[in-house]
Order: sequence, then C-alpha cells, then structure tokens
Amino acid sequence: MEIIILKDADSVAAFGGELVAGLLRVSPATVLGLASGGTQLALYHKLVAKHRAGEISFRQVTTFNLDEYLGVTPANPQSYRAYMQRVLFDHVDIDPRRTFLPECAEGQNPLLVGRLYEKKISAAGGIDLQILGIGVNGHIGFNEPSSSLNSRTRVKTLTRQTVADNSRLFSASEFQPRLALTMGIATIMDARRILLLATGEKKAEAVAKMIEGPLTAMCPASILQMHQRVTVLLDEAAAGQLKNRDYYDWTHLQSQSLQERFGLDHEA
Ligand code: F6R
Repeated sequence: MEIIILKDADSVAAFGGELVAGLLRVSPATVLGLASGGTQLALYHKLVAKHRAGEISFRQVTTFNLDEYLGVTPANPQSYRAYMQRVLFDHVDIDPRRTFLPECAEGQNPLLVGRLYEKKISAAGGIDLQILGIGVNGHIGFNEPSSSLNSRTRVKTLTRQTVADNSRLFSASEFQPRLALTMGIATIMDARRILLLATGEKKAEAVAKMIEGPLTAMCPASILQMHQRVTVLLDEAAAGQLKNRDYYDWTHLQSQSLQERFGLDHEA
C-alpha cells in the first residue's frame, strides 16, 4: 500500500483530484469506480473545478458506483444516484448512459440486479480506478464487518452504527434505509487500481486497523493489504493512530523523488 499523509482534508481532495485528473488525461476512456458520502464531496468539487477550467473531460468516461440504497428511488434526494447527479454528473460532460449504480427498481429482484451489475462491469472492461471511503467500522462500500472477503455485488444489511453515522443526513420524518445493494469485496479487489480517502479523527481507528491490523472480515478494508496497487490518502487526523507513520512519510519522499527522476508514479 502507498500511504500518503497530508496536512488536511483539502490537501487530500486536491491530491486525489490530481491523481484522477492525471489518469483521465492519459486514458480518456477510463472506467471509474465511484463512492458517495461526506469524504468524497471535496474530491468531486475539485474534479468539477478541473473540468470547468478545461483541464479534464468525462466525455468518454464510464462510472460504476459502489452502492445504492434499496427501497429509495433515483428521484429521492437521499439516493446515491441523486447525490452523484448533484455533486458530479450534472456539472461535467459525462454521458448519462455511461453512469451506473446498483439500482433496484420497484418490483425488480435485487439478486438479479447484483449479478447484472457484475456483468456490466465486466462488459465495460473492468474498473481502472476504484475510489473508496472507509466507514468508522472499517467497511468499504457497504461491506460491513463479517462480510465475505470473496463477496460480489449483493444486498447487505447496514449495521446499526452505519445507520446511526448516516442519520445526520436524514430528517426525523424521512425514511432511512437499512438495506443497500453494494459491490462485493471481491468486486472491489478486481479494480486495477484503488484510491482510498479518509479524513478526520473519527476514521483514525479504522484506518490503523486497515493498514496495520490483521487481515480479517471484521475490518473489511484490511483486504486492501492484498491488492497490488492501493493508494491511501489521509489527513493528519485520520493518520493519528498509525504506529509506522515515520516509514510511510519516508516512503512517500522516496516515491516523489522516483517520480521526478523516472516518472514512476507509485509504490504499492
Ligand atoms: C459510500 C460508501 C461508504 C462510504 C463510507 C464513508 O458509497 O461506499 O463506504 O465511503 O461510509 O462515508 P463518509 O465519507 O460519509 O464518512
């Protein structure tokens, strides 16, 4: 894993934005895996700003979101479809027919939606870069602790903690879903490259378990230790419980100098 610790959340978004933009410049037809949630908002703002400045285009990009609530229509402002429209899709030149979420229409069988989603990802040639956040409990996508490390897109029940964490976004009278369709852990691991962003002290324990803890289904993000190309961007607060911090900073310095000398852009 390449672990990059930056001073604050804005620097994390700026670094992530540059990484995604760099990829889109080299491969305009990139297949992006997207995440929703609070952490990614600043990243999407950066990407929209770059698009407005004429630096990047999404015209040939295909996107697959990690997850979508079950029982929430795309028109519902709480859906992840609505979130993506609001924060990214409505502001860039992406072809709406190439934006996918694991959406389950009324009356559709969610089991079939999961299988179909996997097929769509394969048909697009697989995911080039998967963007991830991390839950306080170590989830990635909505793969909650105890999820099979070999899982594929399917229905998951959110933990009480995840429901509580996300309740800030729902008013008291609004229906808050307890179920979601999510890419599985094996689906995420199939991505050719992974970029995980985590900011804030609340994430520090999960981040330390993901990077320095044992590989366990009780911290689904720990599976990323097995992926050959993961970049983790952290602010100081989210990095607060890492024991090996000095090594990560040292490694980042070496990668920067490799990059300057040879154009190599990462250390796995
Ligand atoms: C959202 C998702 C989740 C979030 C995670 C962090 O699509 O897949 O895994 O990335 O819950 O959420 P925030 O950024 O709101 O703390």
